[in-house]
Amino acid sequence: MPLAIRQQSCSAKPARFTDASAITSCRRHQLATELAGKHVVLGMTGGIACYKIAELTRLLTKAGATVQVAMTDAATQFITPVTMQALSGRPVYTSQWDARIPNNMPHIDLSREADAIVIAPASTDFLAKLANGLCDDLLSTLCIARDCPLLVVPAMNRQMWMNPATQRNVAQLRADGIELLGPDSGAQACGEVGDGRMLEPEAVYEAIASFFSPKTLTGRRVLLTAGPTFEPIDPVRGITNRSSGKMGFALARAAQQAGADVHLVAGPVGLETPWGVYRENVQTAQQMHDAVMRAVPDCDIFIGVAAVADWRVDHVADHKIKKTADRAIPSFSFVENPDILASVAKLPHPPFCVGFAAESGDLDVHGEEKRKRKNVPLLIGNLGPQTFGLDDNEVVLFEATGITRLPRADKQTLARALIAEIAKRLPDANVIA
Ligand code: CTP
Repeated sequence: MPLAIRQQSCSAKPARFTDASAITSCRRHQLATELAGKHVVLGMTGGIACYKIAELTRLLTKAGATVQVAMTDAATQFITPVTMQALSGRPVYTSQWDARIPNNMPHIDLSREADAIVIAPASTDFLAKLANGLCDDLLSTLCIARDCPLLVVPAMNRQMWMNPATQRNVAQLRADGIELLGPDSGAQACGEVGDGRMLEPEAVYEAIASFFSPKTLTGRRVLLTAGPTFEPIDPVRGITNRSSGKMGFALARAAQQAGADVHLVAGPVGLETPWGVYRENVQTAQQMHDAVMRAVPDCDIFIGVAAVADWRVDHVADHKIKKTADRAIPSFSFVENPDILASVAKLPHPPFCVGFAAESGDLDVHGEEKRKRKNVPLLIGNLGPQTFGLDDNEVVLFEATGITRLPRADKQTLARALIAEIAKRLPDANVIA
């Protein structure tokens, strides 16, 4: 099955918004400076989802963006300009006759420094206006007069969303190059259940962050492993390790933001699935191996970040191993797990393979030795005890031409840098990137 079909609903691409339960809070992935230098005009139209925009504004400003709010009269019935001004730190505009702009042309001037206009929530009426080029208030005129991208986040009752007129308008907006984010599906304020709910603020934030990211991996399909594995010894116990999965999840998010279709095979970790990433949960090394081997024919890049257990017990006890009267210590015999990275690298037509090495010392020696042993073009080395469970990391890139050290950074920043490094090294990098 192609990766695109398996994508979860956490995607910026409208056709993939199907499973509301998969849209989870992505706040933890957010980075303080991720949107530094970006200026967003946040246009609000009438709808109960206006309350969600207070949180979206906070997420955008926390990530370093400046936010200029413009509201329709209807939006001010749901949340006050006072609230939005307090959260955005800027005066809110509601009228095209607002004299605070020196030339009295807010419909032109407000968008000129914007990197994007985001309409959230976008009402049925506003979609119709946009699709037909109507401009009878500040926000609709601002959209027509814009010279930057426009992102629209619909929010409405399911019948209003499914109405043929709305669907015609949506098709027209897409044809006009306007990016639609959502809608989501689920319980609605009116008590009905169906399509039309606005995406949660965290999901809208993730889609905006993804929209602004350089697209170095457009058209690429990336398969990653992340987290530890868990090798059972009996129904209640097992052998695992201290990998948190944070680096692998950060790489999956960065690859998605770079435009790739991302399939993440994750060991047992409690992390939220990054926006737009398809996640497959596994427990054991063998399950991880099998999931990877099923998915690998569809991928261009394989990144093995998981801390895979090297061994498993050869017989898992059917029942909990109990202490015996004579206090005999149980003993186990082990068998070796498959080496997932080496198996992928050995394929007749392998994807571009990237390995990770978590060492406890002598990184320069072990890293290059491991890269050669696994037969991969790129291996990223780090010292395990200095990164396991932490939010930052320091890595060294090993490749045939030598080593490159990247400065210590938080895992999200590092992930972006690593994805850029991987994109540069793809055999046909200049064709797609
Ligand atoms: N790896 C794998 N399958 C395994 C073991 C490791 O895919 N059974 C991958 C990891 O995901 C990582 C790389 O191989 O990308 C190196 O993992 P690491 O545990 O550091 O190396 P090992 O081969 O297990 O060597 P050792 O534990 O002896 O250092």
